[in-house]
Amino acid sequence: MTASSLLSIGDLGADGIDEVMTLTDSFVEVSQRAMPKVPALRGRTVVSLFYEDSTRTRLSFEAAARRLSADTMNFSVSTSSVHKGESLRDTALTIEAMGVDALVVRHPSAGAPAQVASWVSCPVVNAGDGWHEHPTQALLDCYTIRSARPSLAGLRIAIVGDIKHSRVARSNVTAFTLMGAEVTLVAPPTLLPPSLAGWPVEVSTDLDAVLPKVDVVYLLRIQAERQAEALLPSLREYTAGYGLTERRAELLADDALVMHPGPMNRGVEIAAAVADLPCSLVTRQVANGVAVRMAVLFLLLGAEPRG
Ligand code: CP
Repeated sequence: MTASSLLSIGDLGADGIDEVMTLTDSFVEVSQRAMPKVPALRGRTVVSLFYEDSTRTRLSFEAAARRLSADTMNFSVSTSSVHKGESLRDTALTIEAMGVDALVVRHPSAGAPAQVASWVSCPVVNAGDGWHEHPTQALLDCYTIRSARPSLAGLRIAIVGDIKHSRVARSNVTAFTLMGAEVTLVAPPTLLPPSLAGWPVEVSTDLDAVLPKVDVVYLLRIQAERQAEALLPSLREYTAGYGLTERRAELLADDALVMHPGPMNRGVEIAAAVADLPCSLVTRQVANGVAVRMAVLFLLLGAEPRG
């Protein structure tokens, strides 16, 4: 990884994604030790600057930093001076002035992590910005598929659901296609972006027809907080047309894989029983997220001690 920040999965290219995957193998091994810790980032400080809720991304970045022996600091909007009107720029500069080595930023506005990166001198990792990008999710998903299949090249992957509001869909389409997979988006027309010009994908509204042909079905959460529900007649009708129900899961090939970035709406986009099938990689995605984020932090911080 040559960039000083990770803002977009496309910036890495196929070679950069491969580099993260290779390094992740060694951090998976570290994570499986009785004492899952190495001194690689001792003396460094990683700060989570999250303006939006998160369970997986925030905790796994913290776990990743600690397993690399970095110190961590956690910024919570609800108890911060943001409520006194402090701007994103002043908040970022204030935290940087405390002597931090990396900022992990989640924000509801597309481009906010890139803005932060333009204001501070330390590396910034985009941990999800609005509908725009979630590059470390794409990395952990590529790694998870690669750990279950020899390669992503030639795999057929369906991404199903709320594409319009999904930063995961945007980053994953880029990552999967860079790695040689063929991607089909499946969604009701109201949950597709207004234009798909430049997206290297097929599009379908017929999930039953797509499922038997795919190696991986990747389900997206219906994002009620981004007004997705207003674009649907009802959640029940969404599930009837686009949910991976137990009946639909039987249409999948015997060796097909089921993925979801979490948090899942069990009973909406995925049946509770399907989420727990052996072919569901949901918990493996979460476990791999820690090792992938160790690789990202190490590549951004490992080589250059703070002067
Ligand atoms: N997949 C994901 O980003 O989950 P969180 O919102 O819990 O971080």
